[in-house]
Amino acid sequence: MTEMPFRSETLSEKQREYMKLIAEIMEIRKRGERPLAFVRTYGCQQNVADSERIKGMLEGSGFGFTDTPDDADFILFNTCAVREHAEDRVFGNVGALKNLKRRHPQILIALCGCMMEQEHVAERIYNSFPFVGLVFGTHSLHHFPELLYSNLVDGRRVFERGVDDKKVYEGIPVHRDGSFKGWLPIMYGCNNFCTYCIVPYVRGRERSREKDVILSEASQMIKSGYKDITLLGQNVNSYGKTLETPVTFASLLGKIDEMDGDYWLRFMTSHPKDCSRELIDTIAGGKHISRHLHLPFQSGSDRILKAMNRHYDRKKYLETVNYAKERIENVSLTSDIIVGFPGETYEDFKQTLSLIREVEFTSLFTFIFSPRKGTPAEKMDDPIPASEKSKWFRELLDVQEEIAAKRCASMVGQTERVLIEGEKEKTGELNARTSGNIIVELEGDPELIGTFQNVKITQARNWILKGELI
Ligand code: SAH
Ligand code: SF4
Ligand code: F3S
Repeated sequence: MTEMPFRSETLSEKQREYMKLIAEIMEIRKRGERPLAFVRTYGCQQNVADSERIKGMLEGSGFGFTDTPDDADFILFNTCAVREHAEDRVFGNVGALKNLKRRHPQILIALCGCMMEQEHVAERIYNSFPFVGLVFGTHSLHHFPELLYSNLVDGRRVFERGVDDKKVYEGIPVHRDGSFKGWLPIMYGCNNFCTYCIVPYVRGRERSREKDVILSEASQMIKSGYKDITLLGQNVNSYGKTLETPVTFASLLGKIDEMDGDYWLRFMTSHPKDCSRELIDTIAGGKHISRHLHLPFQSGSDRILKAMNRHYDRKKYLETVNYAKERIENVSLTSDIIVGFPGETYEDFKQTLSLIREVEFTSLFTFIFSPRKGTPAEKMDDPIPASEKSKWFRELLDVQEEIAAKRCASMVGQTERVLIEGEKEKTGELNARTSGNIIVELEGDPELIGTFQNVKITQARNWILKGELI
């Protein structure tokens, strides 16, 4: 069956009209000099990028921003559903807003994002948190102004979820959080249905943005001084497959890399099943592409990979990694791992340990399996007790610490180009990052934040390096 290409649409005039109407209402409702919004984002960069678009629309509706919920006229939590812990944090923090709403009844409280696309969550919010006035899911971003307006105009609670029209909406204004590090979504949704994962259910089917739209956004970002640009998608390697004129991710990456300027180009996440040699060659030959590949393998056991529906095995993964090591000098590899997937035995887990020893990752994001409602893995037999899984998890961290420490130690004495990202509050030291995504701490003038510098690595502490400006 051939799939219909997904259509792109622009933010409608109607939504822009709603933004004007919101500005008029807020002029009257505001508590301070101007209406203020507090936006808190949970979850992955995809959510961060969505929040930047919501903030863009809020800005277009006359709002400024505050970091203090007490000062806000509008509070929004953009939520994540990926693990139970993420959801619990949101529920806890929403519960805490009850008192705030009591103190300032005119504050409007809204929730959006991945959690809200789940019916049982929206119902729980509706029933248990009556002070939440607006709830919308990931598919409703492009008519957020209309939803906000409906709530403001008559105070009725507005709940909207589950309307995946399979389109990509362009022309939404963006208020970027950073001035030199920026996110650039190239696609939305996911078609992979890994058996543990909620993302395809809450973000809908995979759809790519048009190449030209991405190229023009990238070019604008470079021109306005962005030094570290990350292309975002749940599986960037399948970018472009659903476009009317299919484009590969490697060719998109190569095209951006040709743009003049002093910047680094990153991307996440790559699914190992679609990580092509063409992509690795593009990184190897790139001028701006960081020497870093985040390639989540999840488990080192073929049996578990099959049960996870990951569509690659250990051998294929290692082939890809070895090709990357061969082609990209000093490549930095990172990964995501799940411990305690249903049916995983200690033998399976040992395969994960042996894989991380073999690859020698720079760093790992490690998670204990969390059953997600409605996913196939939720219903699988899961006989290993949580205490046992925690033990394995600890063991994994210990092994990785040893590997990361060894890797970092091997960098002492080398010169690295780093991007200075910020200042450490406690010590006043500067934080920087290498092309391979390793953190370096160094002494220096805060004026250097947002610039590239050459640094001599003087010391390694576990996975953090110390350096000196050259
Ligand atoms: N699209 C990305 C990952 C998105 S979610 C990819 O395929 O690599 C980020 C990570 O969260 C996943 O890589 C996985 O390691 C972890 N994760 C997802 N669902 C999980 C669950 N139910 N329990 C524990 N970890 C989970
Ligand atoms: Fe989830 Fe798998 Fe899609 Fe990643 S590729 S978002 S883990 S379903
Ligand atoms: Fe969480 Fe949604 Fe990202 S579930 S990890 S915020 S796509």
